[in-house]
Amino acid sequence: MKNYANIEDFPIETIEALLDSASMLKKIKFNNLLKNKTMVGLFFNPSTRTRTSFDLAMSQQGGHFISLEPGSKSWGIDFEENMVMDGENEEHLKDAINVLSRYSDCIGVRCFPGFLDWDYDRKDMVLQNILKWSSVPIINMETISHPCQALAMLLTMKEKFNNLKKKKFVLSWSYHPKPLNTAVGNSALIAASMAGMDVTVVNPPYYDLDEKYINIAKDFVVKNGGTVTQSNNQDEGLAAADFVYVKSWGSLKQYGNFKKEEQAKYKDWTITSAKMSLTNNGYISHCLPIRRNLIATDEVLDSENSLIYEEAENRLHVQKAILNYLLGVS
Ligand code: CP
Repeated sequence: MKNYANIEDFPIETIEALLDSASMLKKIKFNNLLKNKTMVGLFFNPSTRTRTSFDLAMSQQGGHFISLEPGSKSWGIDFEENMVMDGENEEHLKDAINVLSRYSDCIGVRCFPGFLDWDYDRKDMVLQNILKWSSVPIINMETISHPCQALAMLLTMKEKFNNLKKKKFVLSWSYHPKPLNTAVGNSALIAASMAGMDVTVVNPPYYDLDEKYINIAKDFVVKNGGTVTQSNNQDEGLAAADFVYVKSWGSLKQYGNFKKEEQAKYKDWTITSAKMSLTNNGYISHCLPIRRNLIATDEVLDSENSLIYEEAENRLHVQKAILNYLLGVS
């Protein structure tokens, strides 16, 4: 049984096949490939794009999507194995996944980390347990990685450059008043390195991504060409960039002990037109939702080089390709 848990689980040939499939599906909106198939989306956190695009990816292919929000419209769920369930929640993840596996053909899960202890969260235990307990394919809809977003980002870049090898990809941290998940940054870094791009990650001191992801990316560029560098100098990093991916994430060094004033020191990391002028007339994108004029200015986000809506649309097309691959209909 196949799952779509992390983008790095797949050889680049499979990722390229998924991108080709997504491009083809983009041209023909409706088909019946998923007739009588059902996906359950388990949302422990809010979503606009992921929920809507998976629903449409199923329904436009003749299938059906059921969205559950544990603790809101379905029972609250406990995660810890062997725990005594004497708290608020009525259901254990093991039981929910076993039952949903019997009802459906595929389960998607969105479950952000707890933001208390990175040593614990980096194990991605909720996703690992779901993979263990499910008898149907699992799709990671964002835990500590966001592989669906990364695939949409790759498709968006390929539509502009075709060949991504040696194109300069800059993952730029940006200020946000809350300590956000590193998931999008982790997967974007890996996806760009899988494609053999020259990847630069720019972030302030103390905002480095987990070394695990940097090392996975470095291993990929050895195999697939390209480079991975890290810098604390945003202007130097942006120089001659072909593609800028801006994203905020919280400091792993202050994980569970967020110091708002620390992050506020870097409010000037907002991507502006002046900063984009350092690039090679580069494109810019972001996963959305985005705080305008904080992460990037209106002028940048509404410019001709902004691909935010193209990438959001491509979520739909790549997810159709993922579903068809997992459910054996492509
Ligand atoms: N980019 C993304 O996953 O969007 P949502 O949080 O709206 O699903």
